Amino acid sequence: MPQSSALIYLDNAATSFPKPPEVAEAMHRLIREISLSPGRSAHRFSLAASRVIFEARELVADFFGCPDSSRVVFTSNVTEALNVGIFGLLAPGDQVITTGMEHNSVMRPLRHLEKTRGIHLEILPTSPSGAIDPDDIPKRLNKKTRLIIINHVSNVTGSVADLGAIGKRKGGALLMVDAAQSAGVFPLDMEGMAIDFLAFTGHKGLFGPTGTGGFLLREGIMAPPLKMGGTGSNSEQEAQPQLMPDCYESGTPNTLGIGGLAAGLEFIRATGRETIRRHEEHLTCMLLDGLSRIEGITVYGPPAGAERGSAVSLTMAGRSVDDLAHLLDRRYGIMARAGLHCAPAAHRSIATFPHGTLRLSPGFFNSEAEIQDVLAALEQIRCES
Ligand SMILES: Cc1ncc(COP(=O)(O)O)c(C=O)c1O
Repeated sequence: MPQSSALIYLDNAATSFPKPPEVAEAMHRLIREISLSPGRSAHRFSLAASRVIFEARELVADFFGCPDSSRVVFTSNVTEALNVGIFGLLAPGDQVITTGMEHNSVMRPLRHLEKTRGIHLEILPTSPSGAIDPDDIPKRLNKKTRLIIINHVSNVTGSVADLGAIGKRKGGALLMVDAAQSAGVFPLDMEGMAIDFLAFTGHKGLFGPTGTGGFLLREGIMAPPLKMGGTGSNSEQEAQPQLMPDCYESGTPNTLGIGGLAAGLEFIRATGRETIRRHEEHLTCMLLDGLSRIEGITVYGPPAGAERGSAVSLTMAGRSVDDLAHLLDRRYGIMARAGLHCAPAAHRSIATFPHGTLRLSPGFFNSEAEIQDVLAALEQIRCES
């Protein structure tokens, strides 16, 4: 059993913790050494801040296989990025193909546009473990299909969508990917996977601080921005500039957070994305294997050994998931998340709606000993049930 002083964080699907020390150090240095408003003035601090943003943009473009860093737009999280794409790209009467595994950051704007713009939604069926079949896409494509929106890795079951296969089946539609759970861990290549709009959040697998995220937009695609205002460019005009990425980045940006995100990306580069993936995969396999030996526990999602992300959803007979999360936290110092994980559609798809599941999500900084501790804690709770 973990000692009461040893906290175990298993909620990396919500946000990664801890962050690499390099992230905190970079942010500490930035806030101490320069003012953080880029592109508004010509003095050295303003130029230094512009450089922070520019270098981060280059890192993001390189990381996701985008040939032009001006196509990288920073937002405050993936929710904002997805909203820009969904509201900007859909017109009345358009059809959208999406999946039963989407987060509310996709489903809520889509349901809103269903009512207000009369868009039509085609929801792809999922297997009991939350997988979709790319071959279901061509059957639903028609000339009104504007967008295919896919959650790359599920935050509920860890199931992985085959983006390569989906990209080959998109027909004349645009492919929008919610990479909230996959960026930093799974390979993502805009060009190779024929992705038109890639939305990411900075604070999960990319190890940046909260308040960071963005999207990459394929050349030739333009969507009206959600907000307009000062960009530090074309200031003589009262009309919003059209140039990328300024047209989407009105207002003083989160230079501090973006600097931290760049340090997170550098950390991944130095450590190796594959190394991170292998460690998470190993811990996830260990967790799934141990859970399969505890009577009364049902695990949802792909089995150990299958390709999957590290989000592991479970229920325990005789205990509510809220009760489980509360006991793990209060008695054992183990932090996990219970409920619907902002993805009621996904829980409907795997038949765990409305109560949801307990989600354990190991990250790069978890250890084997911590996984053993959570398994021992669950076994003890089960014995008391
Ligand atoms: C699949 C998925 N999409 C979107 C989001 C929203 O992320 P953010 O709150 O950073 O915008 C999350 C976060 O949990 C997620 O897991």
